[in-house]
Amino acid sequence: MNQENPMKAQVLVEDVWKSFDRGRIEVLKGVTLTVPEGQIVALCGVSGCGKSTLLNVISGLEEVDSGNVRVSGHDVVHESTRIDLLRHHIGYVFQFHHLMPDLTLAENCLVPLIAIGGNRADGLARLQELATATGIQHRLTQRVRDLSGGERQRGALVRSLMNDPELLLCDEPTGALDESNRSRVFDLLLELVRARGRTLVLATHDPDLASRCDRTLKMRDGRIEGETHG
Ligand SMILES: Nc1ncnc2c1ncn2[C@@H]1O[C@H](COP(=O)(O)OP(=O)(O)O)[C@@H](O)[C@H]1O
Ligand SMILES: [Mg+2]
Repeated sequence: MNQENPMKAQVLVEDVWKSFDRGRIEVLKGVTLTVPEGQIVALCGVSGCGKSTLLNVISGLEEVDSGNVRVSGHDVVHESTRIDLLRHHIGYVFQFHHLMPDLTLAENCLVPLIAIGGNRADGLARLQELATATGIQHRLTQRVRDLSGGERQRGALVRSLMNDPELLLCDEPTGALDESNRSRVFDLLLELVRARGRTLVLATHDPDLASRCDRTLKMRDGRIEGETHG
């Protein structure tokens, strides 16, 4: 493992192998990549090539068979404090938002803050700021079940940024939206992350969306087979 400057390279993935079903389904077959601080990277490739699994491995949600993963110098594979890393340093936006339908949008967004025991007044101020930036401040007191698809994905974006993560991971963040909403929410995501100088790794099967990122890593059958810079 290269430890020369672990803080500079925010995400380091080194020769990661991952299988399911006791080795019967091989999904990641020796993935190596480095994402420097502040870079916006798209993982692109057809459905089933391993994008979601790679994001889950980077976040520590999924264990690896072998290889190393480091986020901001933290050893995701071996450290017992993985859950703290997730709570404090990593934001995650899922394809289907994963918001709780019976809670209001504001309540959903405050959950990550509760998880780290954050200050309530600071949290409410941050919620207002992010909700304004994403154009959903007028929807905060609505229950999630009453929101449109686009509003839910904007809400998921707000929730993911509540604890000001250094690294944001997004899995097909606009995949559930129609064409016009998809483009708008995607640009909003890039704008928010760029304005804050945060690192973003996102999965998408849409080459047009990928081309708006700083760099695209092309995945195929559990491997990274090439990259382009935007
Ligand atoms: N928990 C699991 N158990 C068994 N197979 C899985 C599991 N998660 C993912 N897979 C398989 O791994 C492959 C890659 O899945 P995934 O990472 O979701 O790809 P992508 O996000 O690129 O569509 C697929 O063939 C999928 O069926
Ligand atoms: Mg996926």
